[in-house]
Amino acid sequence: MATTGSEKQGTKAYYVTTPIYYVNDAPHLGHAYTTVAGDVLTRWHRQRGEQVWYLTGTDEHGQKILRSADANGVSPQEWCDKLVDGAWKPLWEHLEIANDDFIRTTQKRHTERVQEFVQDLYDKGEIYKGGYEGPYCVGCEEYKLPGELLDGDGELAGQKLCPVHKKPVEILSEENYFFRLGEYGDKLLAHYEANPGFIQPESARNEVVNFVRQGLQDLSISRSTFDWGIPIPWDDKHVIYVWVDALLNYATAVGYNENPEKFESTFPADIHLVGKDILRFHAVIWPAMLMAQGLPLPRKIAANGWLMVGGEKMSKSNLTGIKPQDLTSHFGVDAYRWYFLRAIAFGQDGSFSWEDFSARYTSELANDYGNLASRVAAMVGKYFGGALPQAAADGEAEQAVHDGLAKAVTEADRKIGDELDFQGGILAVFNFIKQVNGYITEQEPWKVVKDDAEEGRARLATILYTAAESLRAIAVLLNPIMPETSQKVWASLGAEVSLGALADQRVQEAGEWGKLPTGSTVTKGAILFPRLEEKPSA
Ligand code: ME8
Ligand code: MG
Repeated sequence: MATTGSEKQGTKAYYVTTPIYYVNDAPHLGHAYTTVAGDVLTRWHRQRGEQVWYLTGTDEHGQKILRSADANGVSPQEWCDKLVDGAWKPLWEHLEIANDDFIRTTQKRHTERVQEFVQDLYDKGEIYKGGYEGPYCVGCEEYKLPGELLDGDGELAGQKLCPVHKKPVEILSEENYFFRLGEYGDKLLAHYEANPGFIQPESARNEVVNFVRQGLQDLSISRSTFDWGIPIPWDDKHVIYVWVDALLNYATAVGYNENPEKFESTFPADIHLVGKDILRFHAVIWPAMLMAQGLPLPRKIAANGWLMVGGEKMSKSNLTGIKPQDLTSHFGVDAYRWYFLRAIAFGQDGSFSWEDFSARYTSELANDYGNLASRVAAMVGKYFGGALPQAAADGEAEQAVHDGLAKAVTEADRKIGDELDFQGGILAVFNFIKQVNGYITEQEPWKVVKDDAEEGRARLATILYTAAESLRAIAVLLNPIMPETSQKVWASLGAEVSLGALADQRVQEAGEWGKLPTGSTVTKGAILFPRLEEKPSA
């Protein structure tokens, strides 16, 4: 199909993807971390007024899945169906993930297009038959280089271990089909060079560049010792290597070889969000596959760091016992969405601890944000009968608040929307929250109210308008991160009636002062961030 380079009229969607996760087990905190980040990015761009397409899904073929299914005495398809419907989709719904599509690699819309893609490469001479023997890690679904293996000790003495999974590798010897990946090294290096933002962060980019500089080997793209996969179209004794199958989801899900209009208005991805464990597949193999086919490359591969617990990467084989639902039932879904992006610099490793989450919840969410919302609503209710008063003359203190907001909007929009610096963007908004709390404390409306003169009344009105209008902007800016909380604040400000739906408010216009109309009905809603119950004992 000739999809290359054709400039399509109409706008291309901002296309965001997560990895498609292996369904050998239920999702854990690590998967939720990447998926929430993608969701915040998606919602941010939607609130910029852009067309966005957010894709997630599941990776269902390969030996890893087959072995889980076998161990549980069910067919691999039954195993996948059970986990997708019983664990993966429900978690994304629970976490308010607003994905547009969910692709499963066992779907026909995927398997048929994958066969066509691979057939095309074969016809172009990009694939040949050869033999290979080497150490394979089923956890990674990847052949390893002898040099990267670890020596086992104790029970595993004398065995070679995968550096990621710390489990023995298996020596595989097969006749396979190979993709001429080795021929793409220079083209890839040239692409990295010409597109400095292609791999983020810088450390990830350097790792990939160094890896490719050492020279690439051709890639085995078929397996013949088991059959849980998509058959190679010209030789059905082989199934397609699970990573080639999986990477193609980013194309098949948006109409590759099926719906040219959808494909051209969506593909390629603007951002592939991945964990750094699967960076090379996305930054080396995937672009080479696209080059071989003459398809456009993604704009950015962004690697998140590892969520650690007790110094170890959190993984399915290293279960910590903490499930996302254990945290949401204690802290709430919004606080959960906020916490990991707030606490960990995106791209770096970070540790989770229950204590850190509790401390930040209490100081930043309950005391700073929750308290601001409740005191503003309470005072407008008490002093003005719940009708937002008109600000009289703004003075220096008010100007400082307007300036603080303008700065918060610019910073948050750049950091979250462009730089994937979720932590920096969230901090910009929370610093503004602190500023507004400080403003109220300094202006002492509870003292001004004792001044019966008209001047005092006007001053009180100005203070409360300033605080409420700030809160209006805060609700807009935090909506992509904490949608349920923002909706509560929005409703309490009467903004749904006066300004319309929250999702329609543009983040880049959030700093324009004076949007909330005088007379809006302000009501005190439920407490945004209730005091935490005691930590459940393990
Ligand atoms: O690799 N910290 O699937 P997977 C941060 N099917 N992120 C983590 C994490 C942690 N401790 N653990 C997992 C696969 N993740 C393939 C992908 S894509 C074409 C195919 C996240 O189930 C992170 O995004 O092993 C990581 O890359 C991904 O889950 C791996 O999920
Ligand atoms: Mg993994």
